[in-house]
Amino acid sequence: EWSIERFIDTEIANIKAEVGDKKVLCALSGGVDSSVVAALIHKAIGDQLTCIFVDHGLLRKNEANEVMELLADDFHMNIIQVDAADRFLSKLTGVDDPEEKRKIIGNEFIAVFDEEAAKLTDVDYLAQGTLYSDVIESGTETGQKVKSHHNVGGLPEDMEFKLIEPIRSLFKDEVRKLGTALGLPDHIVWRQPFPGPGLGIRVLGEVTREKLTIVREADAILREEIALAGLDRDIWQYFAILPNIRSVGVRDDARSYDYTVGLRAVHSVDGMTSDWARIDWEILDKISHRIVAEVDHVNRVVYDITSKPPATIEWE
Ligand code: XMP
Repeated sequence: EWSIERFIDTEIANIKAEVGDKKVLCALSGGVDSSVVAALIHKAIGDQLTCIFVDHGLLRKNEANEVMELLADDFHMNIIQVDAADRFLSKLTGVDDPEEKRKIIGNEFIAVFDEEAAKLTDVDYLAQGTLYSDVIESGTETGQKVKSHHNVGGLPEDMEFKLIEPIRSLFKDEVRKLGTALGLPDHIVWRQPFPGPGLGIRVLGEVTREKLTIVREADAILREEIALAGLDRDIWQYFAILPNIRSVGVRDDARSYDYTVGLRAVHSVDGMTSDWARIDWEILDKISHRIVAEVDHVNRVVYDITSKPPATIEWE
């Protein structure tokens, strides 16, 4: 009979047998899949695993710190953290097309990862958090994609590594159980989906440092309030967007001309379709008040009440 404990034992034995005394490299994103893969492999081979965590500067508030504190400090993994924010931002300067932004972020991610990987010697294996659903999807890929869905975890095929994909037989819910069994905390195991290009596609149009700060702060307030309201596991995804809109407002009897923040919260099963979340008005009201009070350059907050289709979950 299948159980998580047995899965862990079997996989650890498999990984040890496969890897021997060689080294394994893993790209960490802070997401569930790559964290679980890293934790599993680390349990099997300890210091023979090195992780590379590319911080593209498009992560949410505190996200990079949380990953490092958990996996580097608590789990004692070897993690190379690369602060590449400036690099990504300069590549994104002047670019406002969503697909172009995705392409740039994806390519830059690979470039940074490659450079770091090249500094390491005698690494034979690359670990990836491929899931069963990824295996199925790539086998039956048909039709037109609405968005390229470039996942920054996707790495080039011409790398000279052998692949290890220890969770490729698992569904997402099993990966979460595995994560819990490996000692990962709920905030990682139950983390909401977050797109590879990150806040880069939540600042609509050209990405600037100022706009990233605004969307990051607004998003942090939204997440805090959703958690306080106990809704964090009910809602599939919830986040802030910064549309390229400034509008007139009034503050302290003076006219302001500042940004509008969009809030998005949706129910979904797999991200293919979604319904907007009917969050209590009192909660939305509190979030709105906090955002205009606490985030500079925001004087208006709107809530997205469209479902997918015809809208998509992200705005870009
Ligand atoms: P859409 O906006 O297409 O999003 O309704 C469906 C799901 O996919 C996520 N998403 C992405 N994930 N790279 C990713 O890794 C991307 O470029 C990307 N675009 C959208 C989105 O957050 C939602 O969960």
